Amino acid sequence: MTLEKDDGFSALKRYIEQTLKIQCSNYKEDYIKRRLLSRMRSTGTSAYDEYLRYLREHEPELENLRNALTINVTEFFRDADVYNLIKKEVFPALFKGRKTIRIWCAGCSTGEEPYSLAMMLSDMMAADKTISGQIFATDIDEVVLKKAKEGIYPEKSMGKLSETQVHRHFTKLPDGNFQVKPHLQSLIRFRPHDLMSGQPISRYLDMISCRNVTIYFTEKQKDELAKMFHAALVPGGYYVMGKTEYLGREVEGLFSPVNSIQKIYTRKD
Ligand SMILES: C[S@@+](CC[C@H](N)C(=O)[O-])C[C@H]1O[C@@H](n2cnc3c(N)ncnc32)[C@H](O)[C@@H]1O
Repeated sequence: MTLEKDDGFSALKRYIEQTLKIQCSNYKEDYIKRRLLSRMRSTGTSAYDEYLRYLREHEPELENLRNALTINVTEFFRDADVYNLIKKEVFPALFKGRKTIRIWCAGCSTGEEPYSLAMMLSDMMAADKTISGQIFATDIDEVVLKKAKEGIYPEKSMGKLSETQVHRHFTKLPDGNFQVKPHLQSLIRFRPHDLMSGQPISRYLDMISCRNVTIYFTEKQKDELAKMFHAALVPGGYYVMGKTEYLGREVEGLFSPVNSIQKIYTRKD
């Protein structure tokens, strides 16, 4: 589908800004258009003004559009409470039983999530030289994965990090950006991987963090994913979901809640 003329694009952008409070001017126009085209394909509309009419008449589409526009959105320590629990409860519980842990960060986007986990892990490793860890970080989108591997972030991404964290784990570059230090990068292996493939990136994992990824998945695909994660975790291994995500009826018996508000579960045997 190619759209040559405005076809109501400006009106649609205004509607998005007013209703979803997403500033379209923050994004490249091409990006916005690609995301809109994908929603237009899914809704069977073929012009921006037609899609705008659809949007006004079908309220649930607003949420789909929000998700489409923020598809790769992520940040360091997104949902601080979850990270506090991982640091205070999950990691210490895991290290009680073993000296090295294996984590899969699935749907890692531009890397902020695996680097947040790696910062906590690295701080623990500095305090106890006998422990270590490995993070597999995967995403279906190779463009974001390339950025994740580079580990270079603008100053505005660093807001949630303490001065100590920035100093310990990042180098300030001459252009004002911040680059992740090699000791952090060495804890992570970035790989392309499709979560719909049915195959885990590895097995005998101690923790899987798969957050804010399943918004487009059908209920059946979400159940299949939970079963795949169950099989990939060691018994008692941890599964961390996004705060708005949930386990379907068919699979909730596979996991026990550790904290059902922060969506942290453990694998039942
Ligand atoms: C909103 S971001 C979430 C990033 C991070 N997990 C977080 O919570 O901040 C969703 C990511 O899931 C990835 N994704 C979507 N479908 C996927 C699939 N089938 N397999 C692997 N990754 C997928 C997208 O490419 C995107 O980078």
